[in-house]
Order: sequence, then C-alpha cells, then structure tokens
Amino acid sequence: YTAKIDASDIEKGTYAHYMLKEIDEQPFVMRNIIKEYQDENNQMKLNADIRKAMQAADRIYIIAAGTSYHAGLVGKELLEKLANIPVEVHVASEFSYNMPLLSEKPLFIFLSQSGETADSRAVLVKIKEMGHPALTITNVPGSTLSREADFTLHLYAGPEIAVASTKAYTAQIAVLAILAVDTAKEKGLELAFDLIQELAIVANAIEVLTDQKEVMEELARDYLAIARNAFFIGRSADYNVCVEGALKLKEVSYIQAEGFAGGELKHGTIALIEEGTPIIALATQENVNYAIRSNVQEVVSRGANAMVISMKGLEQDTDAFVLPHVHEVLTPLVSVIPLQLLAYYAALQLDRDVDKPRNLAKSVTVE
Ligand code: G6P
Repeated sequence: YTAKIDASDIEKGTYAHYMLKEIDEQPFVMRNIIKEYQDENNQMKLNADIRKAMQAADRIYIIAAGTSYHAGLVGKELLEKLANIPVEVHVASEFSYNMPLLSEKPLFIFLSQSGETADSRAVLVKIKEMGHPALTITNVPGSTLSREADFTLHLYAGPEIAVASTKAYTAQIAVLAILAVDTAKEKGLELAFDLIQELAIVANAIEVLTDQKEVMEELARDYLAIARNAFFIGRSADYNVCVEGALKLKEVSYIQAEGFAGGELKHGTIALIEEGTPIIALATQENVNYAIRSNVQEVVSRGANAMVISMKGLEQDTDAFVLPHVHEVLTPLVSVIPLQLLAYYAALQLDRDVDKPRNLAKSVTVE
C-alpha cells in the first residue's frame, strides 16, 4: 500500500486552520473506511493472518498514548461487547516500566496516528523480544510501528496536520469497530446490526453536526471562553469520550479540563465546583441516562453552568444540544464531534495558536 496524497490533503484551502478542516473531513473519512474495508459482495475485507491472530488470542492488549489511548478505551468496549474477547488498554509509557501479568496468548494492538510514538515503540520492541504477535493500527503506512509489527491496519484518514488529533480518533474507533465485528463473525457470533450500514449513518450524522458550527461557536463563548477550568462528565461509553473532550480542550485552549465518570465526581472533585464552573455532560446512553442527569442536578445545585449534550430519543427540553441518533455502540463517533468543535472555538475565542499549541508536538519520538 502506498499513500495517495494529493495537494488538497495537505493544504488548508479556504480553512483558517487545519484543525477545523480535519474535523470537517470526518464524514469523508468514515465513508473512505467503509470503502476500503468492504469487498465487492459488501462483506468485510480483512487480511487472513489478522483474522487468525484475532481468533488465536485469549486477550488483547491495546497500547497507545494521548488521543489514541482514548480511542483505545472505546475500542476495548467494542471488542469486549461485540467480539466477546477480554481487552486491556494501557498507556504506552506506563506499560514499559510496569508491565502487567500477561495472559497465555496475548495479542498486542498498537494504536498510533503517526506510527512513530517512541513510548509505544518501546513496548513493541519489548513484546517482540518476548515473542508476542503485534498489530499496528496507524494512519501512516510505512511508519516505524507499522514496519516493526506483524500486521497493519490502515486508518485511511488522510494526513492529519493539526497537532490536536481529531479525524484519526474517529478513524481509529471505526477501524476497531470493523475489527470487532469481523472477529465476532469469524467466531460465529450473531450480531443484530449491520456495521457498514451503521457507519454510513454515522457519516451522515457527523455531517449534520459539522454543519452546526454557529451553535458550537456560541456554546463555546457562553460556557468555555470565560472559564478557568471545565469538567466533562459522562457514564459508561460517554465517560470514554469525556476524557478525550477534556484533552482536546486542554490542548488547544489551555483551559484546565478533566473528564470524569459521572458518579465519581462527588467523591472529591465536586469540591472544585463553584458559581459558573462549566460542566459538559454527555447523555447518549439509555441505561445511564437517569443517573447522569442526577449528577448534573448535583453540580447545578452547587452553581455549575451545566450543558447537557444528549442523543435524539433521550433528550430533555433543557438540553443544550441534541445529537442525531446512531447505533448505541457507535455513539462515541458522533458525541466527540461537538467536543472537538467546542475546543476549537474556545481556542479561537482565546486567540490561541490552534494548529500548533505551545509545548506540544504532532509526533513524539522521544521517550
Ligand atoms: C502526541 C500528540 C497527540 C497524540 C499522541 C499520540 O502527544 O500531540 O495528539 O495523541 O502524541 O500520537 P500517535 O501518533 O501515537 O497517535
């Protein structure tokens, strides 16, 4: 595979920033992934050796850093729920120095946009020495992590230039969903939904969201641009997205932000809530909808300026923003979009260097 890069991929065109361009590219990336992973009979197309490795593994270890680590958290849920295989997700820099007990037949998945992150590479070198198989999921064909692993899956997201990762995150989740569903099918598990069709629905939903930039710009102004700190709360699948939403906001706006499990906030961090503290709550999961809304009440009664982002079907009149409905296991692919846009507009309003935040590098090749 060789990357087909055309000039429009690496130029900003009419966009002021790469970050916004890359947020907007996400519907195309979803459709591109569908195209690349589907054969002429509309069946999923995956390398036979990867299939074999997935079937042979008794446990998956996902190794990653930063935003890719957050995509790994979503991937764990997809692989466990759909393919019924236990998954651990590890921060690469921790795994190197504090390796957990491994299962008998581990398969390592390295998630890396750049394929060059030194922390992840250190783990790859170590586990190859131990004789374990490795699959790299990356946006850069021919990158170090791709060359040194046994197998590679590509993200087909096109070059990501902005330091803050957006389209690579959603691409990683989509490819992990494909891997999970393919593994389930190979195992003979019955799945009640057609992933390719659901991903196409996701692509349309993202388009609906990226068309609502004015709303996001306004919400960013009302809630974030004036804030010293912000909290993202969610439960279950929403919690995984909250940690990414908080990272995005920190990276580009420098507002101190944290993603919290809705139920955990009251065990300490609620002490930080004061009059006007922004809280962004995600409510896309039916089974925790009631619980997360009571968490919102808890913070509102302490003066927080809370914004609820819910999903069609679960919305209430007071919600600041309602996401188009998508299949429940794929909600992270759409709930992250407003969080990316909020981070972008908050950074813009604070006059930050959006594409090149201070102290950060796109790919970190030192440990
Ligand atoms: C750097 C970037 C992050 C990125 C992380 C992992 O810290 O600033 O945006 O998420 O590395 O990068 P990777 O290329 O391995 O996904």
